[in-house]
Amino acid sequence: MPKALKGMKDIIPQDAAMWQRFESASRGIFHTFGYREIRTPILEETALFVKSIGGETDIVTKEMFSFKDRGERDISMRPEGTAPIARAYLEAGFHNTEMFQKLYYIGPMFRAERPQAGRMRQFHQIGAEAIGSSHPALDAEVIALMAKILDGCGIKDYRIRVNSLGCAEDKKRLSKALKDDLSGKKVLLCDDCKTRIKVNPLRVMDCKKDSCRDAVRGAFRAIKLLCEGCVKHFDSVKARLDDIKVSYVTDQYIVRGLDYYTGTVFEVSHPALGAQDALGAGGRYDNLIKDLGGPEISATGFALGMERMLIAAGGGKFGEKPENRLAAYIATIGVEAERRGFEIVNALRVSGVKCDMDYEGKSLKAQMRSADKLGARFVIIIGEDELARDEVTLRDMESKEQVSVKLPDLVKRITGKIC
Ligand code: HAM
Repeated sequence: MPKALKGMKDIIPQDAAMWQRFESASRGIFHTFGYREIRTPILEETALFVKSIGGETDIVTKEMFSFKDRGERDISMRPEGTAPIARAYLEAGFHNTEMFQKLYYIGPMFRAERPQAGRMRQFHQIGAEAIGSSHPALDAEVIALMAKILDGCGIKDYRIRVNSLGCAEDKKRLSKALKDDLSGKKVLLCDDCKTRIKVNPLRVMDCKKDSCRDAVRGAFRAIKLLCEGCVKHFDSVKARLDDIKVSYVTDQYIVRGLDYYTGTVFEVSHPALGAQDALGAGGRYDNLIKDLGGPEISATGFALGMERMLIAAGGGKFGEKPENRLAAYIATIGVEAERRGFEIVNALRVSGVKCDMDYEGKSLKAQMRSADKLGARFVIIIGEDELARDEVTLRDMESKEQVSVKLPDLVKRITGKIC
């Protein structure tokens, strides 16, 4: 029997209810904050991710699903949403028309990581990108927006940590200082990090190995990280967060595993996630649009991992949304009644009544059980007697009251009670 690929999962109807809740809560909040939806393709040119995320990052070197298409072009499945949105922003010409854009997205991303709880090969992100301003209030806004979405999805006890990586100049200085310091401590570093200090020293900060981490933290403490402008910007971001009462802690070791970041960066973690504790993350990327061939345009954004949000929300046992429940279930006895039932079910649907009937030849008792399982408020019973009288029996599953109803009155009777 065919199986889903490793690290990829079906979302079956029982689970979909929770996904729908997260999506609709997030959409509502995005709209409140003035963000508009953008949808970009799953496939992009591989070069887009190499240029933006960085050629030496784990995502690009080890985790992308990349292949050559029939025209021998290098294609990748998107591992994240920021680079495709920056591309789409330029391709739509927003930089010439409406430079300031607040965009959001919800959709699947792909990374060939080793699957474990909260780490999938196809996962889903809810994210936002605010492009066109370097204002510190915008950094605070995206962090507040991320927190509001977590609140709106019923997730508690999350922790936001913020840091500033500084501008491109600061990053260069930090990179050189790390290289100088760590070159003298190579024995402490893993093989990957030995290469990283040669090609992209900042990437040693992503290493999870204890000895590398200790070496990096030691080096870090000795380095003055930020220029005056970046200190001022970061202070202003924090002051704004204080003003609007968003809780956070400052953590100078947040570096992020993608090269495009500059300035404010942040992560949100949750205790239910264990080793994979990042619920979401984001930050500024003031050089990305330019690096992709556009003008100098500042931007910031974040993405939350939906699978991890589900874990943080307690596993997603929230049941069916009330609005997905049936208003009516048609239970019939005999061939003629089933035929009339089919007619009624279709007429009710035309009137916008959510309803269904049996297609498996079940007994009346089994049909009543189905109605109950589907949360139907009414059961419309049709047997020989009802056919003869040109009526139906309408059972209210809440009050258990049962009445005979003429067909022309049926819709009014049902909608009158449920609306
Ligand atoms: P990221 O930190 O790579 O950032 O991913 C953001 C979130 O996606 C993670 O915190 C995690 O919840 C989720 N995630 C990542 N990989 C996986 C996986 N294999 N399985 C399950 N969940 C995963 C970005 O993607 C940036 N584009 C965020 C951003 C937007 N920065 C600025 N704007």
